[in-house]
Amino acid sequence: MEKNIVLIGFMGAGKTSVGRTIAQKLGWTFLDTDQEIERLNGLPVHEIFRRYGEIRFRSEERLLAGKLVTRQRLVIATGGGMVKYPENVELLKQNGILVWLKVGPEIVLRRVGKRAADRPLLRGKLNIEEIGSLLAEREAIYEKIADVVVANENKSLDELAREIIQNCLSTSPSEEKRHQDK
Ligand code: S3P
Repeated sequence: MEKNIVLIGFMGAGKTSVGRTIAQKLGWTFLDTDQEIERLNGLPVHEIFRRYGEIRFRSEERLLAGKLVTRQRLVIATGGGMVKYPENVELLKQNGILVWLKVGPEIVLRRVGKRAADRPLLRGKLNIEEIGSLLAEREAIYEKIADVVVANENKSLDELAREIIQNCLSTSPSEEKRHQDK
């Protein structure tokens, strides 16, 4: 398995937690795109949004996607909106298998509700209806680009990590091609 494992999915899907677990199991490096952008800018994501707007945050994501193209043996947890942009998807797919961690709106509400201040796009939208409609928009994208889909419901971190590793191992080059051609 040469390609990076790139976790995609909505806010609160569990990308960071499971990403760390996968990296530990494989002995690979874990990288969370939000945390990396925070480190590079010396500011939390919500503060980048507040001071400079979403457009600045998206351009940081684009720059980072460009830098990751040459890196190997990485488990990457992406911010939920990073793959909205086809150029980021193209870059991440060059050396990565895109794994969609799929969750329903109830779980998102439960997880994100606790740390709502960290998610500027959900401010004032913490109810099932609003989360459901943003989730539906995003799912249309995740579904189109994912090489592997894994449901993150009622599973331990360990089970989920094993399932993802197994799925990535069995994603042969020909299968990846088939997905890309869709
Ligand atoms: C965003 C998701 C967040 C973060 C930013 C925007 C999005 O990351 O990148 O607040 O557009 O879905 P998480 O998915 O890690 O919460």
